[in-house]
Amino acid sequence: MKIAIGNDHAGPQLKQELIGYFQEKGIEYVDLGVAEGEKCDYPDKAAQVCEKVTSGECDMAVLVCGTGIGMSMCANKIKGIRAACCSDYFSAKFTRAHNDANVLCLGARVLGAGLAAELVDVFLNTPFEGGRHQRRVDKITELENR
Ligand code: RB5
Repeated sequence: MKIAIGNDHAGPQLKQELIGYFQEKGIEYVDLGVAEGEKCDYPDKAAQVCEKVTSGECDMAVLVCGTGIGMSMCANKIKGIRAACCSDYFSAKFTRAHNDANVLCLGARVLGAGLAAELVDVFLNTPFEGGRHQRRVDKITELENR
């Protein structure tokens, strides 16, 4: 599994904590986020990171901004991306199980590093359940093709 991670200027510190989690778990990653002291606009960063998923280079992505919301709004405009902004364990688990989400958006000004790593962990390790949920995910794809 290969993960793309990106952040705007609100998220360098949390991004580094999450990279620590990837390294500890031996998860391959590509870091496209800005470093401390640099700035970027979250729509540009969301587009750059999501392209890694839609191109197939990465399996999933994690996006960090101040709230996680701006990143998720942008990511969900991109065909093939199902992004979820999560700040609780249940949502991070079931957006994988039921929505087959492929991008997790996190708020660096909302979450502590410990909870953020738990959310990433459950997101990456929960499989999509398929079945009746596949029909609904197909309908998401239909909506984006309208
Ligand atoms: C940047 O200051 C902030 O607006 C951004 O990180 C994010 O929270 C937007 O949704």
